Amino acid sequence: MRDDLEKILFEEEIILRRLDALAAEILRDYQNRELTLIVVLNGSFIFAADLLRRLPQRLQLGFLSVASYQGGTKSTGKLVLHPLPLPQISGRDILILEDVLDSGLTLGAILEELRAQRPASIKVCVLLRKEKVRLRQVEPDYVGFEIGDEFVVGYGLDHMEHYRNLPCIGVLRNELIAES
Ligand code: IMP
Ligand code: MG
Repeated sequence: MRDDLEKILFEEEIILRRLDALAAEILRDYQNRELTLIVVLNGSFIFAADLLRRLPQRLQLGFLSVASYQGGTKSTGKLVLHPLPLPQISGRDILILEDVLDSGLTLGAILEELRAQRPASIKVCVLLRKEKVRLRQVEPDYVGFEIGDEFVVGYGLDHMEHYRNLPCIGVLRNELIAES
């Protein structure tokens, strides 16, 4: 799988070291407050698993499934929401965990949906933030890494459901990217 990468951006050790710092920041901000983490599936599952094991406190966990990419690398702009049973949102301190902020459509829609349920507070943590003009403005409160406007895979992120199990994050070789 590594041969399919044009370049590696972050090796696993680098990602985990960054998660140590992110977790410390989150712990500091939420001292004595019980967090509800909402993990955006599928891409965030490895990121979430590694981050939440660095948060040694009582917390609640829920999963939300959203698809904005129907196959290839271009956002269709259409969101397919798959509601899963969520923990209580109203009155709770919510932290959304998302793999990558790209167009902003996914997080924009999720924030709108969850804000309507009147949480006590709501923040966003993304592992990767792409530098680009967004279709919808979203300002995450915690960012793992800033990256360019390139299509990346690994550490949970996929291209047509492949590469999620790659431990590092890298840019996929251009000829392997299906424009759909
Ligand atoms: P947005 O709605 O355009 O911000 O896209 C967010 C979603 O698109 C993420 O949750 C990812 O699943 C997917 N996505 C965006 N960029 C990439 C990428 O570079 N690699 C893999 N998936 C991506
Ligand atoms: Mg995806």
